[in-house]
Amino acid sequence: MARQSHDDPAGAESLVAAEAAVDEQEIEAALRPKRLGEFVGQQRVREQLSLVLDAAKLRNRPPDHLLLSGPPGLGKTTLAMIVAAELGMPLRVTSGPAIQHAGDLAALLSSLSEGEVLFLDEIHRMARPAEEMLYIAMEDFRVDVVVGKGAGATAIPLEIPPFTLVGATTRAGLLPGPLRDRFGFTAHMDFYSPAELEQVLRRSAGLLDVPLDRDGGAEIAGRSRGTPRIANRLLRRVRDYAQVRADGVVTADVAAAALTLYDVDEAGLDRLDRAVLDALVRRFGGGPVGLSTLAVAVGEETETVEEVAEPFLVRAGLLARTPRGRVATTAAWSHLGLVPPPGNGALGSGSSAAQPVLFDNSP
Ligand SMILES: Nc1ncnc2c1ncn2[C@@H]1O[C@H](COP(=O)(O)OP(=O)(O)OP(=O)(O)O)[C@@H](O)[C@H]1O
Ligand SMILES: [Mg+2]
Repeated sequence: MARQSHDDPAGAESLVAAEAAVDEQEIEAALRPKRLGEFVGQQRVREQLSLVLDAAKLRNRPPDHLLLSGPPGLGKTTLAMIVAAELGMPLRVTSGPAIQHAGDLAALLSSLSEGEVLFLDEIHRMARPAEEMLYIAMEDFRVDVVVGKGAGATAIPLEIPPFTLVGATTRAGLLPGPLRDRFGFTAHMDFYSPAELEQVLRRSAGLLDVPLDRDGGAEIAGRSRGTPRIANRLLRRVRDYAQVRADGVVTADVAAAALTLYDVDEAGLDRLDRAVLDALVRRFGGGPVGLSTLAVAVGEETETVEEVAEPFLVRAGLLARTPRGRVATTAAWSHLGLVPPPGNGALGSGSSAAQPVLFDNSP
């Protein structure tokens, strides 16, 4: 869902939205690593994938079908392209929503060349009848083309050349079991650590010809929500600021000033996130408070608060959803520069670690 800032209901997306903005495709393509060796972070996925690809090359056979799952902006599309590049095979790109009928898929599959990589983005959004056709194609490299209607209909099996399916999804849970089972390898993408994001930023700064110093990179990485797409987007905004208001060099001070101007704080919260946190802490004493009450307090729809602001606040360890309502954690109070009153019951009280847990990579 696109985030919208408060005073711009007409639709400017938030700088820290994980989804790509409409006009972002071109620049993203330019910044995409082309080979596995350039791909930063996700070390386990990278190692596993490189093994799968090397083994396939050794056997001179297409590798098993691959499923890439994880939140937006972490590099699924990038990896799919890398798979084709590493195999030296052509890449065909399509997406679940583009396949509304089994016939769409049959046409696509039968036009593949041997060893081609088929990237099916948002695979969880494919039409059900097409899904069934896909299982068979993945397993037996065959599609059954139905000719005729009603009682006289017959299925004519059509051989298709061996190919590799690379599926991507932000919602692996929505995939039917039989489809998930037909992938030989599933890569779960995790959020990136600040150090990994710094590497992403250094690489992008090089490509964009932006002088970025070490502390400047760290400053941007800390505000990027564990997401390379957001890191790259913030870098572009900071570059503008550095060029117009400073001498072009992105230092920590320049980055902090630019991102403050754009309403992205040190933990990567934007204005809506902070409004929610602020209302929860200052108006409701840290909660518990019901979602709809909280939404009214910030002048937003409940869905906006629940689906746009809360997921990151929860992930950052700032807000907890409890059966009695929303509760601010100790980290939330300290993020706002406050101390929870004694006996307030803020979650996490008494812990010395009042820092938001931004990058919990545990499964
Ligand atoms: N590991 C990485 N190293 C360097 N850059 C990366 C990495 N992962 C992602 N990026 C950058 O982040 C941007 C977004 O990545 P990508 O489009 O692959 O994400 P995605 O997972 O496909 O997102 P979505 O779910 O929205 O389709 C790309 O422009 C790419 O340059
Ligand atoms: Mg993608």
